[in-house]
Amino acid sequence: MNSAFSLAGKRILVTGANTGIGQGIAVSIARAGGAVVGVGRSAMDDTAARVAAAGGAFAAVAADLADPAAAASMLDRVWDEKGPLDGLVNNAGIIRRADAVELTEADWDEVMDINLKTVFFLCQSFARRVLAGGRKGKVVNIASVLSFQGGIRVASYTASKHGVLGITRLLACEWAPKGINVNGIAPGYIETNNTEALRADPDRSASILARIPAGRWGGPEDIGDAAVFLLAPASNYMHGAVVPVDGGWLAR
Ligand SMILES: NC(=O)c1ccc[n+]([C@@H]2O[C@H](COP(=O)([O-])OP(=O)(O)OC[C@H]3O[C@@H](n4cnc5c(N)ncnc54)[C@H](OP(=O)(O)O)[C@@H]3O)[C@@H](O)[C@H]2O)c1
Repeated sequence: MNSAFSLAGKRILVTGANTGIGQGIAVSIARAGGAVVGVGRSAMDDTAARVAAAGGAFAAVAADLADPAAAASMLDRVWDEKGPLDGLVNNAGIIRRADAVELTEADWDEVMDINLKTVFFLCQSFARRVLAGGRKGKVVNIASVLSFQGGIRVASYTASKHGVLGITRLLACEWAPKGINVNGIAPGYIETNNTEALRADPDRSASILARIPAGRWGGPEDIGDAAVFLLAPASNYMHGAVVPVDGGWLAR
């Protein structure tokens, strides 16, 4: 493999690695030669098996990311017990669908805590350790096409993903001079649990598909390989970019 795209010798923490996009990212990291620390609240046996089949090392860490302070101390614990990290992928996220006039305060708070507040404090924990050790690091935040568009019936999700775009840019500006790259990926419509309700609605599903220039929904592997690029030396001069991987959705 061209070493600019290799993750050999790198250890990357991926949140929400048990399924969906996080699982796709874990497998892609393994294929690029990296070791994965998967963090989440559900069993990760399936991901561990897929990473092993790709020839990679995988360690599972149980954590509920709904509590931002607990998430940040989890990263410190991982660093102390398993050794330094080279990369952080903030992938875990939730969505609550309701008309804006119906959305509850709980639906607002839960989404903002997991999708934005925990993401910020994990970035902070990671950067503190990288900087204290005089190391370099890479952060990849999973944003959304709803970091750039409004959408419908997902008010807290859209707010959180606009926030992810904003903090990705801010952290990139603060940390680029210190050797930490902070970038993001804006997935389009990907076949995971997150979009199950949309795919179960024949009208919504057909209208979404008709608007995707690539003519298909994305799969977790489409996002995984883009994440490898943002974790590898090939992207060393990228800071604050949130790259759409969306079959052309945002270009339309
Ligand atoms: N699918 C899409 O079309 C799409 C588009 C744009 C952006 N995204 C973003 O991509 C990321 C991954 O989503 P996905 O599509 O792969 O959906 P998914 O299959 O629902 O995966 C979400 C992941 O987040 C984890 N998670 C949720 N709440 C958690 C908590 N409190 N503590 C620990 N882990 C938690 C989930 O764990 P459990 O399995 O235990 O719930 C799961 O691993 C999210 O940030 C999402 O917003 C997805």
